[in-house]
Amino acid sequence: MEYRQLGSDGPQVPVLGLGAWPIGGGMGHVDERVAINTIRAAIDSGITLLDTAQAYRTSEATVGVALRDGYRDRCFLATKASSDYSREGILSSLEDSLRALDVDYVDLYQIHNWKPEYPIEATMETMARLQEQGKARYIGVSNYGAAQMAQALKTARFGSNQVRYSMFDRQIEVQDVPFCEQEGIGILVHSPLAKGLLTGVYTPAHRFPQDDERSRFPRFQGDAFARYLTVADRLQEIALDGGLNLVQLAIAWALRLPAITCVLVGAKNPSQVQDHAGAAGVVLGDEELARISEILSDAPQD
Ligand SMILES: NC(=O)c1ccc[n+]([C@@H]2O[C@H](COP(=O)([O-])OP(=O)(O)OC[C@H]3O[C@@H](n4cnc5c(N)ncnc54)[C@H](OP(=O)(O)O)[C@@H]3O)[C@@H](O)[C@H]2O)c1
Repeated sequence: MEYRQLGSDGPQVPVLGLGAWPIGGGMGHVDERVAINTIRAAIDSGITLLDTAQAYRTSEATVGVALRDGYRDRCFLATKASSDYSREGILSSLEDSLRALDVDYVDLYQIHNWKPEYPIEATMETMARLQEQGKARYIGVSNYGAAQMAQALKTARFGSNQVRYSMFDRQIEVQDVPFCEQEGIGILVHSPLAKGLLTGVYTPAHRFPQDDERSRFPRFQGDAFARYLTVADRLQEIALDGGLNLVQLAIAWALRLPAITCVLVGAKNPSQVQDHAGAAGVVLGDEELARISEILSDAPQD
């Protein structure tokens, strides 16, 4: 497994992390035993950074069970405060998370997103305090743009921003990636498979069950869904030419940027995790990247 430094003064972390939203049930039901096996398969394969959140339904509790039997010491555990970013809200969120995860501290504690009703200064002051107390070894933010990151840095040094990035979601390339590079902030990528659009599994006729968030996302319906899948099929040809599958191509593509520290990939079973592990160490050549760029110019813009 390749490692990169999380920000200019942070720890070394693997370039692949396990996103634990799907095992919380947000993308359809996952049996708890399968979820535990998935988490342990990830750690056993070197995918030792785990990302969960207060808001991920049963995810933290399931991660807590999976981390028994010595697995806790082998992973870099990240979670997030997800809703109330007042001082009291963050403090009680972390206590809830520590209880659910059955740990004394987390390796990375993140603010899930930016909400204008909570002043960034007060939020970051509380986060810095938690780091001083040792309840969070490192602190970070998520879904912050360059302006919010600049404001947050005035109060506290933080090491990472967790943001959406995939072949179908490239908005961060304009301002946020250059800002993170300049300020030495690590980037944890979320939704790198565009939540399944970049897996080669789906056809336009597929209907997601009600308990799967994708049943409500416009990208997974009708004409938009079909157009994304057409582009994904063309990308899959490039993957196959290089001896990869589309999932591995999508992961390697995100990691082509040195500013990306770690790609958090969601998985629902151990076999999906094994697929992700196969992307470690894959370096795409200039010709492949140029072909991908050309195809992506035909991707829908939503
Ligand atoms: N900070 C934030 O606001 C935020 C937002 C979203 C996500 N995240 C984090 O980022 C992580 C990753 O994002 P995500 O899980 O939402 O989406 P994702 O990684 O883009 O997609 C994950 C889904 O793709 C499918 N998949 C994964 N591996 C596959 C494989 N090898 N073959 C075929 N299908 C495969 C699975 O669903 P199916 O098998 O059902 O298709 C899986 O649930 C999350 O788990 C979470 O930790 C953070």
